[in-house]
Amino acid sequence: MSDEPYLVINDLTAGYGGPPIIEGISLEARPGAITAIVGPNGAGKSTLMKAIAGVVRPSSGEVKVCGQVTTGLSADKLVRHGMAYVPQVANVFPSLTVVENLEMGGYNRKSGVRERIEELYELFPDLRPAARRPARTLSGGQRNMLAMARGLMSDPKVLLVDEPTAGMAPKFEAAVWQHIVQVRQTGVAVVVVEQNTRRTLTHADWAYVLVLGRNRLSGSPAQLLNDEEVVALYIGGGA
Ligand SMILES: Nc1ncnc2c1ncn2[C@@H]1O[C@H](COP(=O)(O)OP(=O)(O)OP(=O)(O)O)[C@@H](O)[C@H]1O
Ligand SMILES: [Mg+2]
Repeated sequence: MSDEPYLVINDLTAGYGGPPIIEGISLEARPGAITAIVGPNGAGKSTLMKAIAGVVRPSSGEVKVCGQVTTGLSADKLVRHGMAYVPQVANVFPSLTVVENLEMGGYNRKSGVRERIEELYELFPDLRPAARRPARTLSGGQRNMLAMARGLMSDPKVLLVDEPTAGMAPKFEAAVWQHIVQVRQTGVAVVVVEQNTRRTLTHADWAYVLVLGRNRLSGSPAQLLNDEEVVALYIGGGA
């Protein structure tokens, strides 16, 4: 069971009504692993996440969560199937407090909201002292942690996170990654989209490289980083 992927994408094509933005994408994400989707600006990473998360309706292909076909289901229904999605922007309610944001994330729970919030304060210690503050007063890094914690309120099997470290100072970037690694340890299948390929590969268990809406290649970070051509074309030398 533990080896069965929690998320399986087969030949997924999606866009915004015009020509497809992503085409023929297949990937898997396993429990207790970080699966990275990397690639240049405009490659279609966010569109792929939206197509998986039910924000954009795929025109063909299949999405399966824990063996169940969920293609085309709304984001709301997908939560019940064990999917949580943290978008690249607008991922918290700025005027609501931290605890209110967490409660919203747990809206579909029948019980255990308090207990789950406590567990998430353990995982994201910065949030506890900020519980009664509006989310807008948090730093960018803390806000992204709140967004992840909010997604985790529903006890998802699959957590999709779009660019959790975008525009962050290296210190905060490191803290966010540390938290993502801790979420992996809880057995969730974490799917992370990032532009900073090299940094992402140091944390990921498996990576897919997206270029112009297509899955150009995939492999373990070690495989990708040891291939000079791959590094020259898609990864580069920077940190
Ligand atoms: N709502 C939309 N309507 C129409 N086209 C869109 C929309 N959102 C994105 N696109 C187009 O889809 C393409 C892929 O965009 P997407 O945001 O998926 O890329 P990305 O890889 O996430 O880029 P970034 O690294 O900048 O976040 C781009 O050409 C973009 O202009
Ligand atoms: Mg994006």
